[in-house]
Amino acid sequence: MSGSTDAAKGPPAGDHLEIKDSRTGKVYYAPITDETIRTADLKQIKVKPEDFGIMGYDPAFMNTASCRSAITFIDGDQGILRYRGYPIEQLAEKASFLEVAWLLRHGELPTQKEYDKWVADITYHTYVHENIKQFLTGFRYDAHPMSMLAAGVSALSSFYPTAKSIHDPVERDIAFVRLLAKMPTIAAFAYRHVKGLPLVYPDNSLPYAENFLSMIARMSESKYEANPVFARAIDVLFILHADHEQNCSTNAVRAVGSSHVDPYSAVSAGINALYGPLHGGANEAVLRMLEEIGHPNNIPAFIESVKSGKGEHKLMGFGHRVYKSYDPRAKIVKGLCDQVLAITGMSKDMEIAVELERIALSDEYFIKRKLYPNVDFYTGLIYRALHFPTDYFTVLFAIARTAGWMSQWEELLLDKEQKIARPRQIYTGYGERPYKSTLDYTHRITK
Ligand code: CMC
Repeated sequence: MSGSTDAAKGPPAGDHLEIKDSRTGKVYYAPITDETIRTADLKQIKVKPEDFGIMGYDPAFMNTASCRSAITFIDGDQGILRYRGYPIEQLAEKASFLEVAWLLRHGELPTQKEYDKWVADITYHTYVHENIKQFLTGFRYDAHPMSMLAAGVSALSSFYPTAKSIHDPVERDIAFVRLLAKMPTIAAFAYRHVKGLPLVYPDNSLPYAENFLSMIARMSESKYEANPVFARAIDVLFILHADHEQNCSTNAVRAVGSSHVDPYSAVSAGINALYGPLHGGANEAVLRMLEEIGHPNNIPAFIESVKSGKGEHKLMGFGHRVYKSYDPRAKIVKGLCDQVLAITGMSKDMEIAVELERIALSDEYFIKRKLYPNVDFYTGLIYRALHFPTDYFTVLFAIARTAGWMSQWEELLLDKEQKIARPRQIYTGYGERPYKSTLDYTHRITK
């Protein structure tokens, strides 16, 4: 049994848990490393030798570490978020998204030479195969852009079949570059298709965020020049969303990636996980909630309905599985939101959001449950001010999270302890019973 001993041998030298099984009276020891025991160490605890042994039951991974990771650090109680040790506040103020993408993957900030090559490579690969373009235009006019993005990224797998060689570092390099490069292009094509606008090819003379905005907004002008405040807001939002350790979509990328599938397939799983309203879809849900509220006067009644709904009706953009004091990204986004709205003008949504936040933060229900605005509370307001359609918000999140998904995917592959993800279950169904069908299968029986 790895690392733990039974009572007969005495306790191990280092920190450990002493576990007594009341069924047998036997004592076991489980070593503690990094404030963690290995759940596999519980397997030795059995009544009969043929038993499977004790398992840990942890629906939704509330208290289970699935990996060791050196990428992102979060202290949810203190509201700390760091990428590779660098505070998110400093990165948001000083870095660019592509520098952060490099940092997430490599663990260190790039030198000027490394950065220039990284940017040049990503810029070079922004175009997608014309068949991807045609494939995307086959979607219905009202297709959700997240479906288009997930399908587009999944399709890339068939365009780059050598990406299956996941243990080849050169293949991983090019997959990183291609995914970061093509994600904004596919995302912009989805936007233009749904709007019924002609698709705009990348303009590789532009930086990353400006190039994306050009593909979104350019019409007949020969060159699109994005407002620098808007372009910087997009770049900072991409930095804030670039990684967030083992969240739902990253866990999906790791779980799917653990079967050793190619990175395009793993990332498309992440996109689909991000789509959900409890995850990346929350900023979309915030805007829908603000529309439903309609006027600041309606906020008290809305808050009451949330409180009396016993969890069924939530205040979207509030609460977080990990942050229990405040979400450090929310502070930065609020500042960005002010900058953007200083140009576009205050919106009705923003007035409702500010008042909603004020009332919720002084309400006992939310204080007691440590419910604070999360990153999604204000991102939707920025996206709305920039005229992105509500169902497009999560697409912007996905572009940014690609940097984190890929870094986490590679970390998984290089981690010798990792195997194909395969949780256990507690079976709650029937015991064995004989098959007695009431269906008529006589037509298919041949003698
Ligand atoms: N509004 C009202 N009540 C809430 C909310 C909310 N937004 N969030 C949690 N609660 C209540 C919940 O009903 C429960 O109350 P009680 O103890 O009386 O049963 C208590 O607070 C604890 O909630 P929980 O559901 O156990 O917390 P969780 O860690 O499982 O859920 C969450 C985290 C983010 C899924 C949840 O807070 C939520 O659904 N928030 C709204 C959706 C949202 O904004 N999601 C974006 C998350 S940030 C983006 C990202 O990183 O993915």
